Amino acid sequence: MSLSNKQIKNQISHLRKLIEYHNRKYYDEANPEISDFEYDQIYNKLKHLESLGQVFQDPNSPTRHVGERPLKKLDAIKHRVPMLSLDNTYSLDELQEFDDRIKKKLASEKYEYVAELKIDGLSIELIFENGVFTKAVTRGDGEFGDDVTENARIILASQNIPDKISRDEEKDPNESWTLNRLEIRGEVFFLKEDFEKINQIRIQDNEIPFSNPRNAAAGTLKLLNSDEFKKRPLKMHVYQLLTASKCPLKTHLEVLQWLAQAGFPVDRHFQQCPTILDAYKYCEFFENKRSTIAFETDGVVIKINQFQQQKNLGETSKTPRWAIAYKFMAEKAITTLKNIVFQVGRTGVVTPVAELEPVFIDGSTVTRATLHNEDDIQRKDLRIGDQVLVEKAGLVIPKIIHPVLHLRVGNEKRFCMPTECPECHSKLIKEEDAAAWRCENDACPAQVHRSIEHFCSRDAMNIQGLGPAIINQLIHHELIRDYGDIYFLDEKHLLLLDRMGKKSADNLLNQIAQSRNVSLTRLVFALGIRHVGIHIAELLTHHFSSLDKLIDAFHNAHEIPLEIEKGIGPQILNSLKTYFHSPNLKIIEKLRKAGVDFSRLNDESINHPLELKETTFVFTGELDHLSRHDAEAFVKKHGGKATTTVSSKTNYVVVGKNPGQKFKQAEQLKVPILTEPEFLKLVQKLNLKG
Ligand code: IVH
Repeated sequence: MSLSNKQIKNQISHLRKLIEYHNRKYYDEANPEISDFEYDQIYNKLKHLESLGQVFQDPNSPTRHVGERPLKKLDAIKHRVPMLSLDNTYSLDELQEFDDRIKKKLASEKYEYVAELKIDGLSIELIFENGVFTKAVTRGDGEFGDDVTENARIILASQNIPDKISRDEEKDPNESWTLNRLEIRGEVFFLKEDFEKINQIRIQDNEIPFSNPRNAAAGTLKLLNSDEFKKRPLKMHVYQLLTASKCPLKTHLEVLQWLAQAGFPVDRHFQQCPTILDAYKYCEFFENKRSTIAFETDGVVIKINQFQQQKNLGETSKTPRWAIAYKFMAEKAITTLKNIVFQVGRTGVVTPVAELEPVFIDGSTVTRATLHNEDDIQRKDLRIGDQVLVEKAGLVIPKIIHPVLHLRVGNEKRFCMPTECPECHSKLIKEEDAAAWRCENDACPAQVHRSIEHFCSRDAMNIQGLGPAIINQLIHHELIRDYGDIYFLDEKHLLLLDRMGKKSADNLLNQIAQSRNVSLTRLVFALGIRHVGIHIAELLTHHFSSLDKLIDAFHNAHEIPLEIEKGIGPQILNSLKTYFHSPNLKIIEKLRKAGVDFSRLNDESINHPLELKETTFVFTGELDHLSRHDAEAFVKKHGGKATTTVSSKTNYVVVGKNPGQKFKQAEQLKVPILTEPEFLKLVQKLNLKG
């Protein structure tokens, strides 16, 4: 049955609003609600309806401009050549259709492709005039972008990217073209590990984590505060060069080579592909290997190699006809929501957690997923027993996208938020304007347990041997009641614990002893004061150069300096006052008695194992300064073991560049992680000892 014009117009109007809504969510709020695949389905449907007749077209339709509008706070700059987007494909059939169009247009000419990873970041243009970097601009709406020069300078410096194009005229007189205006385009993005760290900090600081590295990059690139920007290690790769004057480079491969030799970072995974089938094989290969790439990649970009042919193929107002994106499917699976359980956090927030029928997604088995809060569950109408669509959001933390409604059988149970704390049965309280329910009992065993875990965590006191299982036993045997008691443990206490030998007990006591000298920032963060993440701790430390001065200000209600009042806001001020007026002061006295340093301003607190006997190492990723073989031989020479699988028995995972699954496993199993420099320090130390 064909639709009437009125019905088509209604559908078009509905789809345009929908696309605009999702554009806002994606570009302005950096918080997309649907996957790229779902977005493309809606977008293509709209495009199809608009193509049914002139009357359905409108120059203001979202199909006529590339997503994002530039932000007002940054200066808008017009691109000399518009920055286009790419058409998306999802199958070999669609790639073959693309190839057929090229074949037809290029008639009998021979052509070849170059395939590259599609980096899931944000496009950026660097402008060079007279060989000198002058401006950096985001894509914006394709025609106008935002001026992000200052932030780009920081990225260039941090990655050693030249801000001058070096030329040796005698050697190469033809390079005078580099003196005219050049535009170098590429992508800014976060490495997966940096993205994880940024989100951890956001969670600690009570901010909503970014849902994926692309959103994190988008939010970061436009930061107006350069101090804040410097804390976020954005990276850049380049893949396109535009020249205002004639350029001797004739192919995309030559451009990649030129960019690399001129010192620009080019992703090394590109490949020359004689046919579309070769390009498809490349797509298939990386679709399976994407978890091993250090940055998030959402597909492959396939480009015609010869510039003359690119020119002949031309472009539409939105996308080039000489390139296409092959998008990877988001790693998703359907499984059963077995139950919703409740977890009490260190500050008493009660979070629902989904227990799932185990399902394998992107290299690991998923059994649990975070459900942010009650509202989130209600909005998604999740019911226990539902079949749910689960996605690996960003990296390791899986999330439930929605229930699969047509698979409901009728006996699924609606979820109900408990009214009591699942651990200590105190009444739960919901603060005004907050989405979360809280247990307000400071002595709640779950909170005590989590606060000790937090105290020992890597960014806090860094007592990595004190993991959740040991803390559990220590509390169970009544050996500790709070984190202050940790410092009064001795060998005979520890030997009471399951599977704790003399060696491990000594190692642990060693770590505890070392932690007395961590920096004040770490110590303040470790106290677990509500809303005080590592950044706020840094700010407080900077102002009050010792814990005693901090206590003095908040406990004895001395006037709080204006700078602090302004810098941290009323919510954090209140929580500091509450904290320093509670029995927590008694715990702080235990720390003092134990000799914890209350005023150490610099941080030399990385914990290294002092000897390697019976210590098991796993290495992952590429090491810069020594071969894997030498590293393993070193460990063995000092009585340790080097194995290839990470388990809870592994003592350290040493992580190099582009680490694989083992890095994720180490994080999941909470195995202490050493970076290469940390491992090298250890090597140095042991070599000195002989
Ligand atoms: S080439 C004419 N190469 O993907 C467009 N783009 O969806 C030329 N992207 O706007 C772009 N990796 O931000 C190209 N290796 C790559 C890429 C890449 C990521 C982004 C870029 C572009 C978007 C299109």
